Amino acid sequence: MPQSPKEAFQAEARALRLRLEDAGRRAKNASALEDLRLEFLGRRSGALSRLMAGLASLPAEDRPEAGRLVNALKADVEDALRKLEEGFRTVEKRPPAVDLTLPGLQRPAGCPHPVRVFLKQIEAIFVSLGFSVEEGPEVETDYYNFEALNFPLHHPARDDWDTLYLDGGLLLRTHTSPVQVRVMEKQKPPIRMINPGRVYRKETPDPTHLPMFYQVEGLLVDEGVTFAHLKGTLEYFLRRLFSEKLKIRFRPSFFPFTEPSAEVDIECLVCRGKDSACRVCAGTGWKEILGAGMVDPQVLKNVNIDPEKYSGWAFGMGIERMAMFAYQIPDMRPFYENDMRFIRQFRNK
Ligand code: FA5
Repeated sequence: MPQSPKEAFQAEARALRLRLEDAGRRAKNASALEDLRLEFLGRRSGALSRLMAGLASLPAEDRPEAGRLVNALKADVEDALRKLEEGFRTVEKRPPAVDLTLPGLQRPAGCPHPVRVFLKQIEAIFVSLGFSVEEGPEVETDYYNFEALNFPLHHPARDDWDTLYLDGGLLLRTHTSPVQVRVMEKQKPPIRMINPGRVYRKETPDPTHLPMFYQVEGLLVDEGVTFAHLKGTLEYFLRRLFSEKLKIRFRPSFFPFTEPSAEVDIECLVCRGKDSACRVCAGTGWKEILGAGMVDPQVLKNVNIDPEKYSGWAFGMGIERMAMFAYQIPDMRPFYENDMRFIRQFRNK
């Protein structure tokens, strides 16, 4: 049976009440509340205004009752909106989930690692002498780490480097000398470069040995280069780094890629030769810090540099050994034990 105008009006009022309840449940904050107010009480297009306009189409005898219905509905809408508003206000008054009065999380400021700081000092001296700073890979091929440096396969000199081999014919470079070859392949003389970087050896850590340590390689190739230039440069460098009065000695040695070769010792700056039980120099008063020599002509030939025209020298120094002296510590292992109390001591050195 079709609805009478009165019944249709009442159904519309019921639908509006249901919409109000549903909207109240969905409103989550004060701005949603404002939307609700407009939706129901808006003057022109609000739901109640529209319902009110419908009153005119009702028969005169039904209008008073319908009018009361609209007024009751309006009161309910206003009441619902007020309650929602109060609810939101209480939520806003609650203390925030994050307690802003608690002390903040402390993130201690870091500081540069002492070995890095020391490396930068070394670089600065060589850069001031006109050397460039080069880089090379830590994962190397046998060719660059050994063969191009005049260590044929099965040569016993390879045993001096306890090598960590990787899959696929690769290895962790045991020294920075492969960078000599890489640079000479790309650049033609005159060459003056240093290469700071990490190297790896299968070593048991002790006060002066680590399985991972830094070296700085140096290489100079030009016409008329002699051992005297090597000695002069290293002495100048070491005295500028440590002190004018530093005692230095060159000892004859052997490396397959230099001829002649030398090892360089400096006086033990931890005990200055006064402690027969010194863990750094074992009571000798001296500590080896680097290997050096004139680049072997075979190495120059391997990179197509004419050894009749050019000669060169190279060195490779151990950075932690020198840093021990610079920072006056008797053991290099704490450099890599990540104890911030140790690392921070050198912050301003
Ligand atoms: C070499 O590694 C040669 N490549 C050096 C070289 C370069 C010679 C160019 C000639 C021309 P050696 O193995 O001696 O040489 O190492 C050089 C320096 O690294 C040592 O004098 C020492 O200061 C440091 N060193 C060596 N082994 C360790 C280690 N296990 N831990 C820390 N420092 C080390």
